Amino acid sequence: MTWTPDSWRKFPIQQQPTYANAEQLAFVESQLKRYPPLVFAEEARRLQAHLGHVCQGEGFLLQGGDCAESFRDFTAPKIRDTFKVMLQMAIVLTFAGSVPVTKVARMAGQFAKPRSSNDETIDGVTHPAYRGDIINDAAFTAEAREPDPNRMLTAYHHSAASLNLLRAFAQGGFADLHKVHKWNMGFIAANPMKEKYQKVAERIEEALRFMEVLGITAETHPTIHETELFTSHEALLLPYEEALTRTDSLTGLQYDCSAHMLWMGERTRQLDHAHMEFFRGIHNPVGVKIGPTATPDELMAVIDALNPNNTPGRLTLITRMGADNLAANLPKLIQRVQAEGRHVVWSSDPMHGNTVKTDNGYKTRNFDAIIREIRQFFAIHQAEGSYAGGIHLEMTGEHVTECTGGAYQISESDLEKRYLTQCDPRLNADQVLELAFLVSETLGKARAGRDI
Ligand code: PEP
Ligand code: CO
Repeated sequence: MTWTPDSWRKFPIQQQPTYANAEQLAFVESQLKRYPPLVFAEEARRLQAHLGHVCQGEGFLLQGGDCAESFRDFTAPKIRDTFKVMLQMAIVLTFAGSVPVTKVARMAGQFAKPRSSNDETIDGVTHPAYRGDIINDAAFTAEAREPDPNRMLTAYHHSAASLNLLRAFAQGGFADLHKVHKWNMGFIAANPMKEKYQKVAERIEEALRFMEVLGITAETHPTIHETELFTSHEALLLPYEEALTRTDSLTGLQYDCSAHMLWMGERTRQLDHAHMEFFRGIHNPVGVKIGPTATPDELMAVIDALNPNNTPGRLTLITRMGADNLAANLPKLIQRVQAEGRHVVWSSDPMHGNTVKTDNGYKTRNFDAIIREIRQFFAIHQAEGSYAGGIHLEMTGEHVTECTGGAYQISESDLEKRYLTQCDPRLNADQVLELAFLVSETLGKARAGRDI
């Protein structure tokens, strides 16, 4: 069946808003179609090549950022701090695992959210659910919750500005390896990870000095001075994604130019539905969330639909089963993928299967459960002779109190102190670094790398 950027419209679809003003929607779509693409197809191909290496066990994928970006928290420090935490994490993982880390941010476009219910009721009052800033506003009023197509234009401009700053940070010297020790300025003095991080920074400086003597400098090797950061989001709101889908002038192929990588959520990956139709035709590298109920047959059908040519790097399977469900469900999926010789990147999202609600009404995740899911993910892949290729985190550079546990022992009663998330609870800067060191030990062992 022929694919077009709008062929998804003939299929049943989940998790979409109903816009009251069809004329306004059509106007916004026509505007977006005229706007410049946010990314260039060649960049998406570069990312796919990186992911192809990950697929073969020669790299590691680090994907992370907010659960939902918000228009309200749109500031340079916010973007910088999340980027900084990703850099720190990548450095620790690269150093311990002796493996190149491909960084993919949940940023510059992560504005649409699937919800478990269409409505929300508070004290007997019911309004439509909040679906992300690209659709409606989080405030609990009828007016705020009304889907507004103009928000797609705002999301586009926010994404463009975020991407502009991220590119500047990545290429303009902020990510220079000589500055590794400076990235920890924001640590609070008592951070238990501070010393460990400092040690890594010192060893990197030592290595840089040695390389300099040999004539390997930032001038001869730009990778010392700059880094590559790719963007990603859940391509949930298809009118927006369709409008940013363009024909690449170099290859004639269609790319969704709203981000380098797009993923499909656990709730919208039905085989005969609209999102699958849209995803099968775009040429970006794509991801699919895989929950605990997925069967090997179902998974094979997803792989057939999204990667019929078995291209390494095209498809990332992001498992999010929960620490208690992984051992029962993951091995049979891995075995089937291996038996059929399919090339996929296996990545672990240890966040979405470990969400709980506290007695005082906060959605939270426990640090230990998150670590447990990641460790099991590595152990299961190792036992099956498969490669654990990445992690997918909800995290922020801010000092929030949204996930319990970690070195600072955030308790349930601490949650109210700085619970700022627009949607799901995120790891804070300290918890991310702690996680990076714990994962780096596992990754280092799995790759028989050196210990730090
Ligand atoms: C998410 O990544 O924010 C998300 C909603 O994930 P999932 O589709 O796995 O529930
Ligand atoms: Co989330």
